[in-house]
Amino acid sequence: MNAPAIATRGLTKRFPGGQIAVDGVDLAVPGGSVYGFLGPNGSGKTTTIRMLLGLITPTGGTSALFGAPARAALTRVGALVEGPAFYPWLTGTANLLRLDAANPAADASSAKRRVADSLDRVGLTAAAAKRYKAYSLGMRQRLAIASTLLSRRDLLILDEPTNGLDPQGTREVRGLIKDIAADGTTVFVSSHLLAEVEQMCTHIGVMRTGRLVAQGSMSELRSASSTRVEVETVDVTAATKVLTDLALGDVKSAPDHVSAEIGRMAPEHVSDLLFKAGVSIRGFQVIRPSLEDVFVGLTGEGFDVDR
Ligand SMILES: Nc1ncnc2c1ncn2[C@@H]1O[C@H](COP(=O)(O)OP(=O)(O)OP(=O)(O)O)[C@@H](O)[C@H]1O
Ligand SMILES: [Mg+2]
Repeated sequence: MNAPAIATRGLTKRFPGGQIAVDGVDLAVPGGSVYGFLGPNGSGKTTTIRMLLGLITPTGGTSALFGAPARAALTRVGALVEGPAFYPWLTGTANLLRLDAANPAADASSAKRRVADSLDRVGLTAAAAKRYKAYSLGMRQRLAIASTLLSRRDLLILDEPTNGLDPQGTREVRGLIKDIAADGTTVFVSSHLLAEVEQMCTHIGVMRTGRLVAQGSMSELRSASSTRVEVETVDVTAATKVLTDLALGDVKSAPDHVSAEIGRMAPEHVSDLLFKAGVSIRGFQVIRPSLEDVFVGLTGEGFDVDR
């Protein structure tokens, strides 16, 4: 088995003054995944990422990239944390050439090609000769991503890459991340917007006040939530008996409806039995909680606070 792209054990950061920003986090990011690192503002995402990259020192726990300390793995890792500094008066191309030249491992003779390729990958070829100060926010964000693509990476760590982008820009960055992942690069991307990561991620970790409260593949997280049936009827007593006899969980009755968790049971099995028991059914609904419901349950708050 290959070492996971990211693995941490009890990763902790307590800032001077006593505030604990990251509290015993165990991340497991499989190679080849697109891992959405979700959490509301201030939940510790950026602090975690800074520790992963070795930009700040943890006060507790360990972290490894591809089974090695960050320092040893950095050449395989591209990162975007609050964006690199670009010179406003230089063009996109000239800015990337500067960054590329700062990389001692890069072959200078092929710098132009590398820069052109990475601009092409983020769709900035047409704007390559424009000055950075004339770039839109979306173009700036793409240039920042392009800067992480100057050399081939096995892991890309992006801290809120769609922050401040309009819906169109957000869609484009999402598409770009999918393309990068399709080329075999593991992507670890933070966000406070569930809807955003839901569409592109294979795995998700959820932070709440410094703790990782949930982690797993998308399908694991979805199946952790429970499907319910809701029966609208005037025969509440009879309907309740059917659901209770089936040993369904969390049976709730109201004057005109009854509901219960059905777990893995087929909903039609429930409706058949209700019918056979002579319950007159006015309405029958299968309620599958959205991923959002699951996360609100886990974090105690909604995600899409910015909208
Ligand atoms: N250098 C620092 N010194 C003291 N406290 C800090 C420092 N950096 C971050 N914090 C605190 O740590 C907590 C987590 O911050 P962090 O930036 O990691 O959150 P985040 O999840 O990235 O939030 P956002 O979604 O707003 O970017 C916050 O309460 C923040 O105020
Ligand atoms: Mg942050």
